[in-house]
Amino acid sequence: MDLWQCPVVVTGAASGLGAETARHLAEAGARVTAIDIDAVRVSQVGEAIEGLAIPCDISDTMAAEAAFQKAREAHGPARILVNCVGLAHSQRILGDDGPMPLDHFRRLVEVNLISTFNMMRLAAGDMAKLPPLANGERGLIIFTASISAYEGQSGEAAYAASKGGVVSMILPAAREPGTYGIRVVGIAPGLFGTATLFAMERNLDSRLVHAIPFPHRFGDPSEFAMLVIHVIQNVMINGTVMRLDGGYHR
Ligand SMILES: NC(=O)c1ccc[n+]([C@@H]2O[C@H](COP(=O)([O-])OP(=O)(O)OC[C@H]3O[C@@H](n4cnc5c(N)ncnc54)[C@H](O)[C@@H]3O)[C@@H](O)[C@H]2O)c1
Repeated sequence: MDLWQCPVVVTGAASGLGAETARHLAEAGARVTAIDIDAVRVSQVGEAIEGLAIPCDISDTMAAEAAFQKAREAHGPARILVNCVGLAHSQRILGDDGPMPLDHFRRLVEVNLISTFNMMRLAAGDMAKLPPLANGERGLIIFTASISAYEGQSGEAAYAASKGGVVSMILPAAREPGTYGIRVVGIAPGLFGTATLFAMERNLDSRLVHAIPFPHRFGDPSEFAMLVIHVIQNVMINGTVMRLDGGYHR
């Protein structure tokens, strides 16, 4: 898909992988709407990329619909959604203060899984009404999963369950809107040096990066953004989840 003047929505765009993806897409000529709960940082990103910034808690259904409406009015219906929102917080099922509060589990599933589904639902609704491009494609939805979906660590039950839900949703999601020429693809990052990583991994040290077969370092958000651009350009990638982890298995 040609990105020039293409309306794109990036969620979780105030920071880390989402912010870098928004920058890459804007550089490629896309009309980017950056959505994030962090009003200050998302407006900084929006200004830097000359895009539209919308502060929004995407787990608030009404606010998410209103954000989509604003993006649609400003840029037209999005052909691409890159969903980078993620909440990460490590907490043991049985901690020093007793069992994990159920609301902790609920919040991570709400933000990471239910909001991801909601954004896909809204985006696919718009994409299905767009005229098809020359190759029959109408739109693309990219989810950000995590290697925790496959190899969650202690303290990650809630996060891993939420990302596991994202992974499981991708194939059925690709099968349904596929009839409209809409692709659905997941990217499962390994260890990228962003705020989310530091929230999950309390004991970041050199041993961790040496457990990555190659390269022995955290991923750079630009490497995630490069894969997003490739997925956009390569129409055969659909209904799958790609690990982006330097071969790291926990
Ligand atoms: N960094 C890693 O190592 C890593 C590994 C695996 C998966 N991931 C996933 O990649 C995605 C991006 O994470 P990141 O590393 O860039 O982290 P990050 O913390 O830098 O970015 C996440 C963004 O999501 C926003 N956000 C959180 N809750 C929100 C809500 N309810 N509504 C709107 N915005 C909200 C935050 O404000 C933040 O800007 C996440 O889904 C994360 O789970 C990251």
